[in-house]
Amino acid sequence: MTVLEIATADAMEALGGTLASVLVAGDLVALNGELGAGKTTFTRGLGAALGVRGAVTSPTFVLARTHPRVDGPPLVHVDAYRLSSAADLDDLDIDFAGSIVVVEWGAGKLDGITDSWLELDLVRPVGRAAGSPLDAEYLGDDEPRLVTVTTHGPRWDGFTLTAA
Ligand SMILES: Nc1ncnc2c1ncn2[C@@H]1O[C@H](COP(=O)(O)OP(=O)(O)OP(=O)(O)O)[C@@H](O)[C@H]1O
Ligand SMILES: [Mg+2]
Repeated sequence: MTVLEIATADAMEALGGTLASVLVAGDLVALNGELGAGKTTFTRGLGAALGVRGAVTSPTFVLARTHPRVDGPPLVHVDAYRLSSAADLDDLDIDFAGSIVVVEWGAGKLDGITDSWLELDLVRPVGRAAGSPLDAEYLGDDEPRLVTVTTHGPRWDGFTLTAA
């Protein structure tokens, strides 16, 4: 388990880019953290570094969005917020073995999907300010996040994610 302090949204995108460089087909990354924690920001940087087609935005209304790549496995970006179990996730018929899969709100919903996954928990240590976390002005401000990285299974044994 590693804890990284990520000071800005740009640094969060860069962290996604760093992880992207080691990802191969079959890899599964679970992102946990409250609304506005930075899960999609991380995934945007990850997708950019993978050179995916199409902008990475929140897949909330489609549950899962596949971003093809010219040379390599596609990025499948899942928003599991409204899924309640691994069975629901399984129903999406994602080609886990042939894709790089990033699941927002994946905590507790990955049982039996694969034997290995990387889990990132994003936390705003300063807590929620007075406004709603969905307040555009509020969310736009850079503010540190703590990212806890936990490895699960043989694929990620001994792996350490470091911030650039
Ligand atoms: N250190 C930081 N890391 C990541 N995002 C940050 C940071 N500081 C400020 N932000 C801002 O916080 C917001 C994070 O929003 P984002 O959509 O990535 O969150 P999310 O976890 O995907 O939320 P949701 O659960 O609604 O999908 C962005 O507006 C981003 O610019
Ligand atoms: Mg999101």
